[in-house]
Amino acid sequence: MLDGKVALVTGAARWLGKGYAETLAGKGAAVVVADINAEGAEAVAAGIREAGGQARAVVMDVADEASVAAGFAEVEKTLGPVAVLVNNAGGLLAPTQAAEAFSVEQWTRAVTVNLTGSWLCARAAIPGMKAARWGRIVNITSTTLDYGLPTEMVPYISAKGGVMGLTRSLARELGPYEITVNAVAPGLIQPKVGREGRVSLSEEKLKSIFDLVIANQCIRRQGEVDDLVGPVAFLASDEARFITGQVINVDGGWALK
Ligand SMILES: NC(=O)c1ccc[n+]([C@@H]2O[C@H](COP(=O)([O-])OP(=O)(O)OC[C@H]3O[C@@H](n4cnc5c(N)ncnc54)[C@H](O)[C@@H]3O)[C@@H](O)[C@H]2O)c1
Repeated sequence: MLDGKVALVTGAARWLGKGYAETLAGKGAAVVVADINAEGAEAVAAGIREAGGQARAVVMDVADEASVAAGFAEVEKTLGPVAVLVNNAGGLLAPTQAAEAFSVEQWTRAVTVNLTGSWLCARAAIPGMKAARWGRIVNITSTTLDYGLPTEMVPYISAKGGVMGLTRSLARELGPYEITVNAVAPGLIQPKVGREGRVSLSEEKLKSIFDLVIANQCIRRQGEVDDLVGPVAFLASDEARFITGQVINVDGGWALK
């Protein structure tokens, strides 16, 4: 149980991040729903409060150093130090295309949100975790990293590779303080509806991704948000205290190691 602990989930205004926030609230944490989407974050926080949990929405752009600092300062002042950090904000952030077609801006955006954002939030959370000699950082990578597939996602997969490096190097450095740092790698968890606000992929590209991934999974169905929330909550719990520097693939057995 996470009673009395503050859990901050980035990119929690919808979909997977929303699922993590709701699940951690159900385990007793006071949850910070952090997102650039103020309206969505407030709606998720309100839903958690209506269900009897504790939640607060904080507008935060993980790609912006000042915004992360201000968000964490607000949380510390109102709820206390962050004990559980789920670095979920991220995604493709650019249309799929050939490696040589990406612009530097598209590359930089993917790396800045997925990787730099995870580091900025970890950096802001570490002092409070060290003082408490307890902390959980759960980074979100992707099974795409295991195969370099699907194609035409070079900046995204490269950034997620960096998130694995961040996970391992932080785990080494923070272990002496009883702070664990792990990653969850979702497989294909694409919403069937409600893709608004996402990078739109052509129907042809979507079909090729679905065909590739599902045909190679042991469990031949698309992943759902409910498939992901348990593993994230486990890594955030006290029960997972001796697990660090690891990645858990939650992908229906797409990646077998
Ligand atoms: N959906 C999948 O199949 C899948 C597979 C593997 C990994 N992932 C990873 O899971 C995470 C969530 O993916 P999703 O499919 O739920 O994405 P999504 O696009 O549905 O949601 C992302 C959320 O992050 C927020 N966000 C975007 N940029 C932000 C920023 N700079 N600062 C703060 N918030 C920001 C958005 O407003 C949105 O609420 C991502 O890291 C993604 O790479 C997803």
